[in-house]
Amino acid sequence: MANHADHSDADDHAHPVAPREISHPVLWALGLFASTGALAAVFFHQIDAGRAHARGEPVINLAKAGGGEPDHGALIADISQPVLDQGEILYGKNCASCHGAKGDANPNNTVPAPRNFKTESMKNSLGNGPYAFYHVLTDGYGASMPAFKNLTPAERYAVTHFVRETMIKPSNPAYAAKDPAATTAKIPAAGSSAAGGAQVPPHLVAPPALLPELLAAWSHEDAPRRQAVSAWLETARVGASADLVAPLERLVEIARTQPGRADALLSTVRSGDQAAFITVLVNDAGAGSTDPRFTLMPAPQVQALYARLAQAAGAGVSQ
Ligand code: HEC
Repeated sequence: MANHADHSDADDHAHPVAPREISHPVLWALGLFASTGALAAVFFHQIDAGRAHARGEPVINLAKAGGGEPDHGALIADISQPVLDQGEILYGKNCASCHGAKGDANPNNTVPAPRNFKTESMKNSLGNGPYAFYHVLTDGYGASMPAFKNLTPAERYAVTHFVRETMIKPSNPAYAAKDPAATTAKIPAAGSSAAGGAQVPPHLVAPPALLPELLAAWSHEDAPRRQAVSAWLETARVGASADLVAPLERLVEIARTQPGRADALLSTVRSGDQAAFITVLVNDAGAGSTDPRFTLMPAPQVQALYARLAQAAGAGVSQ
């Protein structure tokens, strides 16, 4: 018995249970290579999927970003409780202050008075239907009923349904009419860019005001004008008296950064209009500010500068 136990103990020590470790630089390299490959495959697959998706949508769909027309038919049809609940919250936040919590008051004493939903009919030309109501919320009505473009179309319909179902219908069923055919005909199709939908193609969006000037300065069409201005300033600079060097250098800088202003200076000098020249010189190209380098310049120096520039422009003014 003891012998047997001894034997088994000795066996355990002779054969350790830990499995042999399989590790080799080549195996590691292969493993890393394979996993990098797999990640790259996933990555490029996603990029391809993205590209294919983009190719399927030639126009950037601004409807998703809030432009474009919603599906009016579906929104008009959905008078479910969640919609009414949402409408109630939105009414409290956006409308009660003027129309009263129950839709029949004028807490702000607005003139004209807000529409009394319990007694009055709608006055807009589209009538009393839900689309007409939505349209009022989209564009406003008269001078005192504001537009609610901050509400999404679905939110505007939610308020519409809440007011119509809980305020107009119970006390004024005649005014809770459906949209008449003449109005239904005007309801834009879902996703269209009709009234109120503002789906603006990117090329029609006006660029910021600074851009055209910069582009003009860089465009080839502008090159002769710029050359005339810089030749003129260069002529004036050569051999100018010491006190005119700094202002002339400033003008060269203006020609580079504000070509329109430099151009205007050249034409005032060419037409011999010293007063206009000083105005353009001192005023920072309509930006509302004045150019300190020239406002602080003594009058005789301004005159000398003008004379120098006039001479350079070939206006024949003696210095
Ligand atoms: C700043 C005050 C003010 C707020 C806020 C306001 N309204 Fe009005 N609303 C008015 C006034 C005033 C009129 C009447 C305008 C008129 O007759 O010229 C009016 C008219 C209306 C009309 C009738 C338009 C028609 O065709 O006769 C509807 C519908 C309406 N409001 C709904 C709403 C809803 C819904 C809200 C909230 C989302 C709201 N209003 C928020 C002041 C307000």
